[in-house]
Amino acid sequence: MMYMDAKDIDYYSLGFEYIETKTMFVSDYNDGKWDEGKLVPFGKFEISPAACVLNYGQGIFEGMKALRTKNGEKVLFRPKENAKRFNESASRMLMPNYDVSKFVDAVKDVVRANEEYIPPYDSAGALYLRPLMIGNGPIVGVKPAKSYKFIIFAIPVGPYFPEGFRGIDLEITKKYTRAAPGGTGATKTCCNYAGSMLAGKEAKEKGFAQVIFLDAVHMEFIEEVGAANFFAVINGTLATPKTTGTILPGITRKSILELASKKMGIKIEERDISYKELFENSCSEAFCAGTAAVITPIKSIVLEDKKRIFSEGEPGEITRKIYELLVGIQRLDIDDEFGWVVKI
Ligand code: PLP
Ligand code: COI
Repeated sequence: MMYMDAKDIDYYSLGFEYIETKTMFVSDYNDGKWDEGKLVPFGKFEISPAACVLNYGQGIFEGMKALRTKNGEKVLFRPKENAKRFNESASRMLMPNYDVSKFVDAVKDVVRANEEYIPPYDSAGALYLRPLMIGNGPIVGVKPAKSYKFIIFAIPVGPYFPEGFRGIDLEITKKYTRAAPGGTGATKTCCNYAGSMLAGKEAKEKGFAQVIFLDAVHMEFIEEVGAANFFAVINGTLATPKTTGTILPGITRKSILELASKKMGIKIEERDISYKELFENSCSEAFCAGTAAVITPIKSIVLEDKKRIFSEGEPGEITRKIYELLVGIQRLDIDDEFGWVVKI
């Protein structure tokens, strides 16, 4: 048996690490069309050394979570949004689109097939779903592949940042950028992540959890954290960088903006945020948000010799309220009046 037996997993001490589960979904694209796709045992597959993804990085992915509710139901959060963003990434990378409802059905099938790996309601865990698509056709010129593979696998995970809700220390980098205008920053293409790893590694060596990237043109405006969007409370307003093509349009980000403005009466702003604003007293809280990161408070921010401490282990009031509302809805502890939660 290659995969880990679900009964042997301690769901209460999970981090964000690779654990093999039982079943994955695979669909192949040949001669201009996708096959029906099917569930298969999780496992390796062959790939040509000349595959476009191996040589030119033609690959995209998504990240989603299946949660267990108090009543024992299995739920997903806004899965159609992931399917739509997957297709936007695909189009940018000259890859074929995948039917949105088939995408959601396949994700549900993978959750059902790996049901025993969904962490219990009272753990901080989730079954993380990883849909991905690769150009696996052989190609030597810099051109899109002719054949593709779509895969969805699942892993039980705990918090992305081990610090969890205690908050993280971040460094603003002026050495590296993540994306430039006209590039691929708004897509979930693998290359964006490969290119950000060195910045993350150097920050971790200095004791930070991750970096905050600035915009590549002015080196002044906040973009995002390596794998999550950025929010700050400035003069009582919830501000987040606007999506102009260089940051990932997060589904958590979009949900938080809706909750803050429609449910919590908090003023929101999508705008350019200068890093200088984070060092002023008008900025009272900061956090990052994403599927993996959920809502992680930012304890402190450093840029060169400047340090701003937001909190010593206690997240700000607005951060905490948004967290409670978002996670409450995701786990159906709070009425899902926007119809975001999909039962499986
Ligand atoms: N930014 C980046 C670079 C990410 O990888 C992610 C995670 O998917 C996010 C932001 C947050 O997006 P979402 O909330 O859709 O997970
Ligand atoms: C997610 O939040 O799902 C992500 O994709 C982040 C990551 C682990 C790359």
